[in-house]
Amino acid sequence: MLLLLLGCLDHTPIPGAEGAFVAMQADFVGYSTWDSVGVDAAAADDTGHPEGERTVYVNTMPAAEDTSFPIGTIVVKVIPGADIHAMVKRGDGFNADGAPGWEWFELVTATNGEPVIKWRGEEPPAGETYGALPGATEDTGGSMTGDCNTCHAAAAENDFVHAVPLGAE
Ligand code: HEC
Repeated sequence: MLLLLLGCLDHTPIPGAEGAFVAMQADFVGYSTWDSVGVDAAAADDTGHPEGERTVYVNTMPAAEDTSFPIGTIVVKVIPGADIHAMVKRGDGFNADGAPGWEWFELVTATNGEPVIKWRGEEPPAGETYGALPGATEDTGGSMTGDCNTCHAAAAENDFVHAVPLGAE
């Protein structure tokens, strides 16, 4: 029994994080070389995110049989000239009342070109909401207070991800 417990402790360096993927800044390095999905600017009109050509990078595309994105999946969305947003499948009951399992991020690019985490969590920090969504109008961001969870709930059937369809591979 003791051995079993020790064995478990071995795999849980962060208390309570068993089975979870807590992304570190280094996990985002090189995201622009990952598989990507282009989202056509016209189709992406009125999303609450700024308009324009966007690219969605995924570290590991879901397998054909996946009905949800596996823990450890990182999705980064880039719109040239706008904020870089990301979502990471953290699992372990994180964000259970929002987009279950998903943690939201904003990244900025350091002068050496590497991504830096600006904020992370179940929602943007106070004050970030509107800055993060300059495209939001009264009808979109206003009514939803620009919250990542509420808007991504529109894609709840695809595990809260809009641009990367499950079961497509
Ligand atoms: C007003 C609705 C709305 C809000 C608010 C919103 N999103 Fe999105 N988001 C979308 C839509 C629609 C897409 C897919 C089309 C596109 O690329 O714009 C998307 C795409 C994304 C993607 C690419 C993966 C995917 O789902 O296609 C990421 C990452 C993302 N959003 C992060 C965020 C973060 C972080 C926040 C909160 C700061 C946020 N979003 C708030 C509507 C929204």
